[in-house]
Amino acid sequence: MRTPRTLRRGWPAAAGTVLLVGASAWGAGPPASVVTTVHNLSVSGPGEVRSLTETEVCKFCHIPHNALEPEPLWGHALSKVPSYAVPPLRSRGGAAAPQPDGASRLCLSCHDGTVALGEIAGQARPIEMAGAQRLTPGRPGFLGTDLSGSHPISFVISDAGTQDPVPGEDIGLKSAGVIRSDPKVRLDAENKMQCTTCHDAHADRYFQEDRVPRFWVAPTVSEVCLSCHALR
Ligand code: HEC
Ligand code: HEC
Ligand code: HEC
Ligand code: HEC
Repeated sequence: MRTPRTLRRGWPAAAGTVLLVGASAWGAGPPASVVTTVHNLSVSGPGEVRSLTETEVCKFCHIPHNALEPEPLWGHALSKVPSYAVPPLRSRGGAAAPQPDGASRLCLSCHDGTVALGEIAGQARPIEMAGAQRLTPGRPGFLGTDLSGSHPISFVISDAGTQDPVPGEDIGLKSAGVIRSDPKVRLDAENKMQCTTCHDAHADRYFQEDRVPRFWVAPTVSEVCLSCHALR
Protein backbone atom coordinates (compact mmCIF):
# COMPACT_ATOMS: atom_id res chain seq x y z
CA MET A 1 0.00 0.00 0.00
CA ARG A 2 0.96 3.56 -0.51
CA THR A 3 1.82 5.64 2.50
CA PRO A 4 -0.52 8.16 4.15
CA ARG A 5 1.87 10.75 2.79
CA THR A 6 0.70 10.13 -0.77
CA LEU A 7 -2.91 9.99 0.29
CA ARG A 8 -2.66 13.42 1.87
CA ARG A 9 -0.80 14.82 -1.06
CA GLY A 10 -3.38 14.46 -3.67
CA TRP A 11 -7.11 14.53 -3.91
CA PRO A 12 -7.70 15.96 -7.31
CA ALA A 13 -9.77 18.91 -8.23
CA ALA A 14 -12.00 16.57 -10.21
CA ALA A 15 -14.56 18.73 -11.94
CA GLY A 16 -17.98 17.16 -11.73
CA THR A 17 -16.98 14.55 -9.20
CA VAL A 18 -17.73 14.43 -5.53
CA LEU A 19 -14.68 14.78 -3.37
CA LEU A 20 -14.44 12.35 -0.53
CA VAL A 21 -13.38 14.82 2.13
CA GLY A 22 -13.37 18.56 2.53
CA ALA A 23 -11.47 19.82 -0.46
CA SER A 24 -9.60 22.39 1.59
CA ALA A 25 -7.53 19.70 3.33
CA TRP A 26 -6.30 18.27 0.06
CA GLY A 27 -4.23 19.70 -2.72
CA ALA A 28 -5.04 19.42 -6.40
CA GLY A 29 -3.79 16.13 -7.86
CA PRO A 30 -3.90 13.86 -10.87
CA PRO A 31 -6.81 11.40 -10.39
CA ALA A 32 -9.30 13.70 -12.16
CA SER A 33 -8.05 11.96 -15.29
CA VAL A 34 -9.97 8.82 -14.25
CA VAL A 35 -13.18 10.49 -15.45
CA THR A 36 -12.38 9.91 -19.12
CA THR A 37 -11.37 6.24 -18.65
CA VAL A 38 -13.27 2.95 -18.47
CA HIS A 39 -12.62 3.13 -14.71
CA ASN A 40 -15.31 5.80 -14.56
CA LEU A 41 -18.10 3.36 -13.76
CA SER A 42 -20.65 6.11 -13.06
CA VAL A 43 -23.44 7.03 -15.49
CA SER A 44 -21.06 9.41 -17.22
CA GLY A 45 -18.47 6.69 -17.93
CA PRO A 46 -17.25 6.18 -21.51
CA GLY A 47 -17.17 2.37 -21.32
CA GLU A 48 -19.72 -0.35 -21.94
CA VAL A 49 -19.71 -1.20 -18.23
CA ARG A 50 -21.23 1.61 -16.18
CA SER A 51 -23.95 2.37 -13.69
CA LEU A 52 -27.50 3.13 -14.70
CA THR A 53 -27.99 5.67 -11.91
CA GLU A 54 -24.87 6.39 -9.83
CA THR A 55 -23.25 9.75 -10.61
CA GLU A 56 -20.22 9.60 -8.29
CA VAL A 57 -17.02 8.55 -10.03
CA CYS A 58 -14.70 7.77 -7.14
CA LYS A 59 -17.28 5.84 -5.13
CA PHE A 60 -16.77 2.56 -6.99
CA CYS A 61 -13.33 2.37 -5.39
CA HIS A 62 -13.18 4.93 -2.55
CA ILE A 63 -15.61 5.95 0.20
CA PRO A 64 -15.23 8.72 2.77
CA HIS A 65 -16.37 6.81 5.86
CA ASN A 66 -16.02 3.28 7.20
CA ALA A 67 -13.49 2.38 4.52
CA LEU A 68 -12.44 -1.27 4.28
CA GLU A 69 -8.77 -0.22 4.04
CA PRO A 70 -7.75 3.16 5.48
CA GLU A 71 -5.36 3.79 2.61
CA PRO A 72 -6.61 4.71 0.10
CA LEU A 73 -10.08 4.94 1.79
CA TRP A 74 -11.05 1.76 -0.03
CA GLY A 75 -14.77 1.15 -0.52
CA HIS A 76 -15.14 -1.63 -3.08
CA ALA A 77 -15.99 -4.99 -1.49
CA LEU A 78 -12.86 -7.13 -1.36
CA SER A 79 -12.65 -10.54 -2.94
CA LYS A 80 -13.01 -13.58 -0.68
CA VAL A 81 -11.00 -15.88 -2.94
CA PRO A 82 -9.01 -18.00 -0.45
CA SER A 83 -5.97 -18.25 -2.71
CA TYR A 84 -4.98 -17.38 -6.27
CA ALA A 85 -2.87 -19.59 -8.49
CA VAL A 86 0.43 -17.69 -8.70
CA PRO A 87 3.61 -18.15 -10.73
CA PRO A 88 6.82 -19.47 -9.17
CA LEU A 89 9.67 -17.08 -8.39
CA ARG A 90 12.32 -18.92 -10.35
CA SER A 91 15.15 -16.84 -8.98
CA ARG A 92 14.18 -18.00 -5.49
CA GLY A 93 14.34 -21.69 -6.13
CA GLY A 94 10.88 -21.92 -7.63
CA ALA A 95 9.03 -20.93 -4.46
CA ALA A 96 5.54 -19.63 -5.23
CA ALA A 97 5.17 -15.87 -5.53
CA PRO A 98 3.30 -14.36 -2.57
CA GLN A 99 -0.48 -14.09 -2.68
CA PRO A 100 -1.60 -10.71 -4.07
CA ASP A 101 -1.59 -7.99 -1.41
CA GLY A 102 -1.50 -4.20 -1.25
CA ALA A 103 -2.88 -2.39 -4.29
CA SER A 104 -3.03 -5.65 -6.28
CA ARG A 105 -5.66 -7.00 -3.91
CA LEU A 106 -7.70 -3.86 -4.54
CA CYS A 107 -7.52 -4.32 -8.32
CA LEU A 108 -8.48 -7.96 -8.03
CA SER A 109 -11.60 -7.02 -6.06
CA CYS A 110 -13.08 -6.30 -9.50
CA HIS A 111 -10.75 -8.06 -11.91
CA ASP A 112 -10.89 -11.60 -10.52
CA GLY A 113 -14.57 -11.56 -11.45
CA THR A 114 -15.90 -12.90 -8.14
CA VAL A 115 -17.34 -9.65 -6.75
CA ALA A 116 -20.08 -7.43 -8.23
CA LEU A 117 -18.62 -4.23 -9.70
CA GLY A 118 -21.21 -2.17 -7.82
CA GLU A 119 -20.71 -3.85 -4.43
CA ILE A 120 -19.65 -1.03 -2.12
CA ALA A 121 -19.10 -1.26 1.65
CA GLY A 122 -22.09 -0.03 3.63
CA GLN A 123 -24.57 -0.22 0.76
CA ALA A 124 -27.47 -2.62 1.19
CA ARG A 125 -27.49 -3.64 -2.48
CA PRO A 126 -24.86 -3.47 -5.21
CA ILE A 127 -25.17 -0.52 -7.59
CA GLU A 128 -26.91 -1.77 -10.71
CA MET A 129 -24.74 -1.76 -13.81
CA ALA A 130 -25.26 -1.78 -17.55
CA GLY A 131 -22.94 -4.02 -19.56
CA ALA A 132 -22.03 -6.46 -16.79
CA GLN A 133 -22.77 -6.81 -13.07
CA ARG A 134 -19.33 -8.37 -12.65
CA LEU A 135 -16.43 -9.19 -14.95
CA THR A 136 -16.86 -12.59 -16.58
CA PRO A 137 -14.73 -14.66 -18.98
CA GLY A 138 -14.70 -13.04 -22.39
CA ARG A 139 -14.80 -9.47 -21.05
CA PRO A 140 -11.63 -7.50 -21.78
CA GLY A 141 -11.13 -6.80 -18.08
CA PHE A 142 -11.52 -10.39 -16.82
CA LEU A 143 -8.42 -11.90 -15.22
CA GLY A 144 -9.98 -14.61 -13.06
CA THR A 145 -8.26 -16.28 -10.12
CA ASP A 146 -5.49 -18.09 -12.04
CA LEU A 147 -2.59 -15.65 -12.18
CA SER A 148 -0.01 -18.37 -12.82
CA GLY A 149 0.49 -17.20 -16.40
CA SER A 150 1.02 -13.60 -15.33
CA HIS A 151 4.07 -11.61 -14.26
CA PRO A 152 4.69 -12.27 -10.54
CA ILE A 153 3.45 -9.51 -8.22
CA SER A 154 3.40 -8.65 -4.50
CA PHE A 155 7.03 -9.76 -4.02
CA VAL A 156 9.75 -7.51 -2.64
CA ILE A 157 12.37 -6.39 -5.15
CA SER A 158 15.48 -7.57 -3.37
CA ASP A 159 18.85 -8.93 -4.37
CA ALA A 160 17.50 -12.46 -4.07
CA GLY A 161 15.36 -11.66 -7.10
CA THR A 162 18.00 -9.99 -9.16
CA GLN A 163 19.56 -13.09 -10.58
CA ASP A 164 18.40 -13.96 -14.05
CA PRO A 165 14.77 -15.05 -13.75
CA VAL A 166 15.08 -17.52 -16.59
CA PRO A 167 18.61 -18.91 -16.80
CA GLY A 168 19.82 -19.02 -20.37
CA GLU A 169 17.14 -16.69 -21.73
CA ASP A 170 17.92 -13.12 -22.62
CA ILE A 171 15.88 -11.46 -19.93
CA GLY A 172 18.31 -10.34 -17.26
CA LEU A 173 17.53 -8.18 -14.26
CA LYS A 174 19.17 -5.06 -12.90
CA SER A 175 20.30 -5.08 -9.28
CA ALA A 176 17.73 -4.37 -6.58
CA GLY A 177 19.61 -1.19 -5.68
CA VAL A 178 19.38 0.15 -9.23
CA ILE A 179 15.70 -0.76 -9.53
CA ARG A 180 14.74 0.72 -6.17
CA SER A 181 16.56 3.98 -6.73
CA ASP A 182 15.08 4.60 -10.20
CA PRO A 183 12.27 7.13 -9.67
CA LYS A 184 10.46 5.81 -12.75
CA VAL A 185 9.98 2.37 -11.19
CA ARG A 186 6.74 2.37 -9.25
CA LEU A 187 7.20 0.07 -6.27
CA ASP A 188 4.96 0.35 -3.21
CA ALA A 189 6.05 1.56 0.22
CA GLU A 190 7.36 -1.94 1.01
CA ASN A 191 9.38 -2.06 -2.24
CA LYS A 192 6.98 -4.60 -3.70
CA MET A 193 6.06 -4.92 -7.32
CA GLN A 194 2.26 -4.65 -7.72
CA CYS A 195 -0.27 -4.18 -10.51
CA THR A 196 0.41 -0.47 -10.05
CA THR A 197 4.04 -0.95 -11.15
CA CYS A 198 2.72 -1.33 -14.70
CA HIS A 199 -0.80 0.15 -14.61
CA ASP A 200 -2.18 3.41 -13.18
CA ALA A 201 -5.83 2.98 -12.18
CA HIS A 202 -6.44 6.72 -12.51
CA ALA A 203 -5.10 7.50 -15.97
CA ASP A 204 -5.22 5.91 -19.41
CA ARG A 205 -2.99 8.29 -21.32
CA TYR A 206 -0.95 5.95 -23.47
CA PHE A 207 -3.37 3.32 -24.73
CA GLN A 208 -2.81 2.21 -28.33
CA GLU A 209 -4.70 -0.74 -29.76
CA ASP A 210 -2.42 -3.81 -29.92
CA ARG A 211 0.58 -1.71 -28.82
CA VAL A 212 0.16 -0.15 -25.40
CA PRO A 213 -2.23 -1.68 -22.82
CA ARG A 214 -4.82 0.37 -20.97
CA PHE A 215 -3.85 2.35 -17.88
CA TRP A 216 -0.19 1.95 -18.82
CA VAL A 217 2.27 4.01 -16.77
CA ALA A 218 4.53 5.05 -19.67
CA PRO A 219 4.29 5.80 -23.38
CA THR A 220 5.69 2.41 -24.40
CA VAL A 221 5.59 -1.10 -22.95
CA SER A 222 9.30 -1.71 -23.24
CA GLU A 223 10.41 1.27 -21.20
CA VAL A 224 8.51 -0.18 -18.24
CA CYS A 225 9.99 -3.66 -18.67
CA LEU A 226 13.46 -2.28 -19.27
CA SER A 227 13.38 -0.18 -16.12
CA CYS A 228 13.99 -3.48 -14.29
CA HIS A 229 15.14 -5.93 -16.94
CA ALA A 230 18.23 -5.67 -19.07
CA LEU A 231 18.33 -7.36 -22.43
CA ARG A 232 21.58 -9.13 -23.08
C1 HEC B 1 -11.40 1.76 -10.49
C2 HEC B 1 -10.94 2.07 -9.16
C3 HEC B 1 -10.59 3.49 -8.83
C4 HEC B 1 -11.31 4.63 -9.07
C5 HEC B 1 -12.62 4.78 -9.84
C6 HEC B 1 -10.62 5.70 -8.41
N1 HEC B 1 -9.49 5.22 -7.79
FE1 HEC B 1 -8.24 6.24 -6.57
N2 HEC B 1 -7.14 4.55 -6.23
C7 HEC B 1 -7.41 3.32 -6.77
C8 HEC B 1 -6.40 2.38 -6.35
C9 HEC B 1 -6.34 0.91 -6.72
C10 HEC B 1 -5.53 3.08 -5.51
C11 HEC B 1 -4.30 2.51 -4.79
C12 HEC B 1 -3.17 2.33 -5.73
C13 HEC B 1 -2.59 3.61 -6.15
O1 HEC B 1 -2.21 4.41 -5.27
O2 HEC B 1 -2.54 3.86 -7.36
C14 HEC B 1 -6.01 4.45 -5.46
C15 HEC B 1 -5.39 5.48 -4.76
C16 HEC B 1 -5.89 6.76 -4.67
C17 HEC B 1 -5.28 7.83 -3.93
C18 HEC B 1 -4.04 7.69 -3.10
C19 HEC B 1 -2.95 8.51 -3.66
C20 HEC B 1 -2.18 7.89 -4.75
O3 HEC B 1 -2.47 8.16 -5.96
O4 HEC B 1 -1.27 7.13 -4.46
C21 HEC B 1 -6.04 8.95 -4.12
C22 HEC B 1 -5.80 10.33 -3.56
C23 HEC B 1 -7.13 8.57 -5.00
N3 HEC B 1 -7.01 7.24 -5.31
C24 HEC B 1 -8.12 9.44 -5.43
C25 HEC B 1 -9.16 9.11 -6.29
C26 HEC B 1 -10.21 10.03 -6.68
C27 HEC B 1 -10.38 11.45 -6.18
C28 HEC B 1 -11.03 9.35 -7.53
C29 HEC B 1 -12.24 9.87 -8.29
C30 HEC B 1 -11.96 11.02 -9.19
C31 HEC B 1 -10.49 8.01 -7.66
N4 HEC B 1 -9.35 7.92 -6.90
C32 HEC B 1 -11.05 7.02 -8.40
C33 HEC B 1 -8.48 3.01 -7.58
C34 HEC B 1 -9.44 3.88 -8.02
C1 HEC C 1 -14.44 -1.06 -9.10
C2 HEC C 1 -13.95 -2.10 -9.98
C3 HEC C 1 -12.53 -1.98 -10.52
C4 HEC C 1 -11.36 -1.85 -9.82
C5 HEC C 1 -11.18 -1.77 -8.33
C6 HEC C 1 -10.30 -1.85 -10.81
N1 HEC C 1 -10.83 -1.98 -12.06
FE1 HEC C 1 -9.80 -2.09 -13.79
N2 HEC C 1 -11.56 -2.15 -14.85
C7 HEC C 1 -12.80 -2.25 -14.29
C8 HEC C 1 -13.81 -2.35 -15.34
C9 HEC C 1 -15.31 -2.50 -15.14
C10 HEC C 1 -13.10 -2.29 -16.56
C11 HEC C 1 -13.69 -2.43 -17.96
C12 HEC C 1 -13.54 -3.90 -18.30
C13 HEC C 1 -14.43 -4.44 -19.38
O1 HEC C 1 -15.10 -3.68 -20.08
O2 HEC C 1 -14.41 -5.69 -19.51
C14 HEC C 1 -11.69 -2.19 -16.21
C15 HEC C 1 -10.66 -2.14 -17.15
C16 HEC C 1 -9.32 -2.26 -16.82
C17 HEC C 1 -8.25 -2.45 -17.78
C18 HEC C 1 -8.43 -2.46 -19.30
C19 HEC C 1 -8.82 -3.82 -19.79
C20 HEC C 1 -8.87 -3.80 -21.31
O3 HEC C 1 -7.87 -4.20 -21.91
O4 HEC C 1 -9.87 -3.31 -21.85
C21 HEC C 1 -7.09 -2.56 -17.07
C22 HEC C 1 -5.70 -2.76 -17.63
C23 HEC C 1 -7.43 -2.42 -15.67
N3 HEC C 1 -8.78 -2.24 -15.55
C24 HEC C 1 -6.51 -2.48 -14.64
C25 HEC C 1 -6.82 -2.25 -13.30
C26 HEC C 1 -5.82 -2.16 -12.25
C27 HEC C 1 -4.35 -2.34 -12.45
C28 HEC C 1 -6.50 -1.91 -11.09
C29 HEC C 1 -5.92 -1.63 -9.72
C30 HEC C 1 -4.84 -0.63 -9.66
C31 HEC C 1 -7.93 -1.89 -11.40
N4 HEC C 1 -8.06 -2.09 -12.75
C32 HEC C 1 -8.95 -1.72 -10.50
C33 HEC C 1 -13.10 -2.23 -12.95
C34 HEC C 1 -12.20 -2.08 -11.92
C1 HEC D 1 4.80 -6.38 -15.64
C2 HEC D 1 3.76 -5.44 -15.93
C3 HEC D 1 2.34 -5.79 -15.54
C4 HEC D 1 1.86 -6.05 -14.30
C5 HEC D 1 2.62 -6.14 -12.99
C6 HEC D 1 0.43 -6.21 -14.45
N1 HEC D 1 0.07 -6.07 -15.75
FE1 HEC D 1 -1.80 -6.04 -16.51
N2 HEC D 1 -1.07 -6.01 -18.40
C7 HEC D 1 0.26 -5.86 -18.73
C8 HEC D 1 0.40 -5.94 -20.18
C9 HEC D 1 1.69 -5.82 -20.95
C10 HEC D 1 -0.91 -6.13 -20.70
C11 HEC D 1 -1.31 -6.28 -22.19
C12 HEC D 1 -1.78 -7.64 -22.52
C13 HEC D 1 -0.76 -8.69 -22.24
O1 HEC D 1 0.38 -8.57 -22.70
O2 HEC D 1 -1.10 -9.65 -21.51
C14 HEC D 1 -1.80 -6.18 -19.55
C15 HEC D 1 -3.17 -6.37 -19.64
C16 HEC D 1 -4.05 -6.28 -18.56
C17 HEC D 1 -5.51 -6.37 -18.65
C18 HEC D 1 -6.31 -6.60 -19.92
C19 HEC D 1 -6.67 -8.06 -20.02
C20 HEC D 1 -5.58 -8.90 -20.53
O3 HEC D 1 -5.31 -9.98 -19.93
O4 HEC D 1 -4.95 -8.54 -21.54
C21 HEC D 1 -5.99 -6.23 -17.39
C22 HEC D 1 -7.45 -6.25 -16.96
C23 HEC D 1 -4.85 -6.07 -16.50
N3 HEC D 1 -3.70 -6.11 -17.25
C24 HEC D 1 -4.94 -5.91 -15.15
C25 HEC D 1 -3.87 -6.12 -14.28
C26 HEC D 1 -4.01 -6.35 -12.85
C27 HEC D 1 -5.32 -6.33 -12.09
C28 HEC D 1 -2.75 -6.57 -12.38
C29 HEC D 1 -2.37 -7.01 -10.99
C30 HEC D 1 -3.06 -8.24 -10.53
C31 HEC D 1 -1.82 -6.41 -13.50
N4 HEC D 1 -2.54 -6.17 -14.62
C32 HEC D 1 -0.43 -6.48 -13.40
C33 HEC D 1 1.29 -5.68 -17.84
C34 HEC D 1 1.21 -5.83 -16.46
C1 HEC E 1 9.70 -3.59 -10.97
C2 HEC E 1 10.61 -4.36 -11.79
C3 HEC E 1 10.04 -5.14 -12.95
C4 HEC E 1 9.32 -4.70 -14.02
C5 HEC E 1 8.81 -3.28 -14.28
C6 HEC E 1 9.12 -5.83 -14.89
N1 HEC E 1 9.70 -6.95 -14.34
FE1 HEC E 1 9.74 -8.80 -15.14
N2 HEC E 1 10.57 -9.53 -13.45
C7 HEC E 1 11.04 -8.76 -12.40
C8 HEC E 1 11.65 -9.61 -11.42
C9 HEC E 1 12.31 -9.18 -10.11
C10 HEC E 1 11.51 -10.93 -11.91
C11 HEC E 1 12.02 -12.20 -11.25
C12 HEC E 1 11.00 -12.75 -10.33
C13 HEC E 1 11.53 -14.04 -9.76
O1 HEC E 1 11.42 -15.06 -10.46
O2 HEC E 1 12.04 -13.99 -8.65
C14 HEC E 1 10.85 -10.84 -13.20
C15 HEC E 1 10.53 -11.91 -14.01
C16 HEC E 1 10.15 -11.81 -15.34
C17 HEC E 1 10.03 -12.91 -16.26
C18 HEC E 1 10.26 -14.36 -15.94
C19 HEC E 1 8.99 -14.89 -15.40
C20 HEC E 1 9.11 -16.29 -14.89
O3 HEC E 1 8.12 -17.00 -15.02
O4 HEC E 1 10.14 -16.64 -14.35
C21 HEC E 1 9.65 -12.39 -17.46
C22 HEC E 1 9.42 -13.13 -18.76
C23 HEC E 1 9.48 -10.96 -17.27
N3 HEC E 1 9.80 -10.64 -15.97
C24 HEC E 1 9.08 -10.09 -18.23
C25 HEC E 1 8.73 -8.77 -18.00
C26 HEC E 1 8.07 -7.91 -18.97
C27 HEC E 1 7.70 -8.33 -20.38
C28 HEC E 1 7.86 -6.71 -18.36
C29 HEC E 1 7.16 -5.48 -18.91
C30 HEC E 1 5.80 -5.73 -19.42
C31 HEC E 1 8.42 -6.81 -17.02
N4 HEC E 1 8.92 -8.07 -16.85
C32 HEC E 1 8.44 -5.79 -16.10
C33 HEC E 1 10.96 -7.40 -12.30
C34 HEC E 1 10.28 -6.57 -13.17
